[in-house]
Amino acid sequence: MRKQIAAANWKMNLTLQQGEALIEALSKIPHDLKDNQEAVFGIPFPYLIPIKNALGGKKNVFIAAQNCSDKKSGAYTGETSAEMLQSIGISYVILGHSERREYFNESNELLSKKVNICLENELKPIFCCGEALAVREANTQNEFVEIQLKESLFHLSAEQIKGFVIAYEPIWAIGTGKTASSAQAQEMHAHIRSVFATQYGADIANSISILYGGSVKAANAKEIFGQPDVDGGLVGGASLIAEEFAAIINGLK
Ligand code: PGA
Repeated sequence: MRKQIAAANWKMNLTLQQGEALIEALSKIPHDLKDNQEAVFGIPFPYLIPIKNALGGKKNVFIAAQNCSDKKSGAYTGETSAEMLQSIGISYVILGHSERREYFNESNELLSKKVNICLENELKPIFCCGEALAVREANTQNEFVEIQLKESLFHLSAEQIKGFVIAYEPIWAIGTGKTASSAQAQEMHAHIRSVFATQYGADIANSISILYGGSVKAANAKEIFGQPDVDGGLVGGASLIAEEFAAIINGLK
């Protein structure tokens, strides 16, 4: 069975002390990860190491950075390289979140470079895609997402795509409390999987974990994750509340 993942995206929230308190609170709430399940914590850069330490190397628990540079190294003040992240034991990098696409002008082309540099440094991208409300209203979301995937990922080999992690996050559902229905999520996830199947074949497509993101919370996680092509979630707001995130982890299949 492909990997099922509950990924927290703290975004630019919490101080170090609040983050440590959240991890401590979470450790006291019963939640458990089966062999095919992972919890991933997307943490602001300054706290990657302390939060990694606070999580104490628990089985199937990993840390993600929320971004990295497309450049290898050099005179890029304020940037963080993939090599730096690898050197401190980070496993995943969230790439192409809609907030980065919108506020930091990240294009599909730039993201393809970031994907490459992550893979060169043995970091696993959590590659985000998803359409804005206007695209959904025009009913062109399938084509829109397909282009995002093609332009950033289709240069990769089948070997590199095997076991890849995609997060489908409709922008109209992020932080709005307006979740896609489980049927809408399933429909898009099946489409994403079919796009990979056409390019790489069914076996590779079936190895890809496709997470849903956009107002996932304890109350809706189980139903959304229960859809056949939904392999977990990328969770913003609800990942900042220990009880919520524990329940979301327990909602994985
Ligand atoms: P949300 O954010 O869960 O707060 O909607 C999800 C995300 O942006 O990854």
